Amino acid sequence: MASPQTAAKVLVASNRGPVSYEVRDDGSLHSKRGGGGMVSGLSAIGPDAGALWVCSALSDGDREAVRRGAGEDGVLMLDIPADVHADAYNGIANSVLWFVHHMLYQTPLEPVFDAEFRRQWASYETYNRAFAEALAERAAPGAAVLVQDYHLTLVPGMLRELRPDVRIGHFSHTPWAPPEYFAMLPDDIARQVLGGMLGADRLGFLTRRWADAFEACCERFAGGLGGTRIGVHGLGADADFLRARSHESDVSERMTALREEIGTAPDGSPRRTVVRVDRTELSKNIVRGLLAYRQLLGDHPEWRERVVHVAFAYPSRQDLAVYRDYTAEVQRVAREINDAYGTPGWTPVVLHVKDDFARSLAAYRLADVALVNPIRDGMNLVAKEVPLVSDEGCVLVLSREAGAFEELGEDALPVNPYDVIATAEALHEALSVPPAERAERSKRLAAAATALPPAQWFLDQLNALTGDGA
Ligand code: G6P
Repeated sequence: MASPQTAAKVLVASNRGPVSYEVRDDGSLHSKRGGGGMVSGLSAIGPDAGALWVCSALSDGDREAVRRGAGEDGVLMLDIPADVHADAYNGIANSVLWFVHHMLYQTPLEPVFDAEFRRQWASYETYNRAFAEALAERAAPGAAVLVQDYHLTLVPGMLRELRPDVRIGHFSHTPWAPPEYFAMLPDDIARQVLGGMLGADRLGFLTRRWADAFEACCERFAGGLGGTRIGVHGLGADADFLRARSHESDVSERMTALREEIGTAPDGSPRRTVVRVDRTELSKNIVRGLLAYRQLLGDHPEWRERVVHVAFAYPSRQDLAVYRDYTAEVQRVAREINDAYGTPGWTPVVLHVKDDFARSLAAYRLADVALVNPIRDGMNLVAKEVPLVSDEGCVLVLSREAGAFEELGEDALPVNPYDVIATAEALHEALSVPPAERAERSKRLAAAATALPPAQWFLDQLNALTGDGA
């Protein structure tokens, strides 16, 4: 049981926490705060609310911070043994559960559930147990615990056994697989994942579609939902933060540099831009986006020299070969397009792979068209952010398989993410939208994108879980 000094009334648990550490050459420790909906959401309840965020130590710097006891107030980093974390995070969460929910398996990537998988699964259980025990120890009587994502599906059930008094919520930031696809998991594992989540009082999803898929899986594998309640909370963009941040001086500097890379059309007018910003992630479908752009240049030669595809693809999960290969593929296809169509004064694809948030915002501001074409995506906040930030308003080309499509579909140009020819046509149509219509559409997109800002998103979940907003 938690001691009175350390007991928290609201706890959040997630693999990646709000802060990361780095040891500098002189041995000093530096912390960097990350962004994201949960970080700004949690700030809504204020620093005095007795909140604690339990997360994994992910880097050498994080582990050093734990050893030195140098963590920030309100954050508890768990130093889970590196091999256990690697099995749980790379092996199970990102190779199996992520692939199942995003339906990414295809030949030759079909899963083989063998002895190695069973060994990694045991690590996933150990890793989940470490979170459950830390939460049980630090939660005040009757506390509200909000567990995040596919890394921690077993935590609600484990925590329920340790601490029947606490109220437990779990939120999925990913899609949920339909039962026919979820059935790929071994039966006992499927039941364990669902049973673990059903240990929560309340489960949250980003869209009705993912919530329905979860319910259908429970019908098939777990005999229904039991007493667990389900809610849908479509995380919105943080308009105040983004609008202010995108007008800071580092963003203006990067706009100047980007404008230079983009250049001007032969008639002297600024070139049009098709902007995308993603983690380099298979579900984001970056390669088919590039192929669609190549198709556009082939089918509509009038755009040559007059448009640039600004594509930022930031490294992600590079411990996994399939992600490294995908990064190389993105770079190769971008190079091929530039070799095939580029001229001395025009680089058709401006690809950047070094993560730079200020440069992403600069690209948002310069966007004429935003391309968001995931194969499947829990929500996709880029689709919500670009219309908010773009200076002249932008046209959104949006995959109908992104969660954001439920809210933005009416004012976006919808695409089937697999169909590169249709995507090329959508890009052509988007580039051809007259300025007044574009501004109107963009305004409506921005309004829909901010319907549920992070602070409200977080409070809604907390209130629904506790029933009294405590
Ligand atoms: C998705 C997941 C998050 C995860 C993020 C970045 O949005 O839902 O849980 O943190 O991707 O992935 P990473 O593996 O770098 O944490």
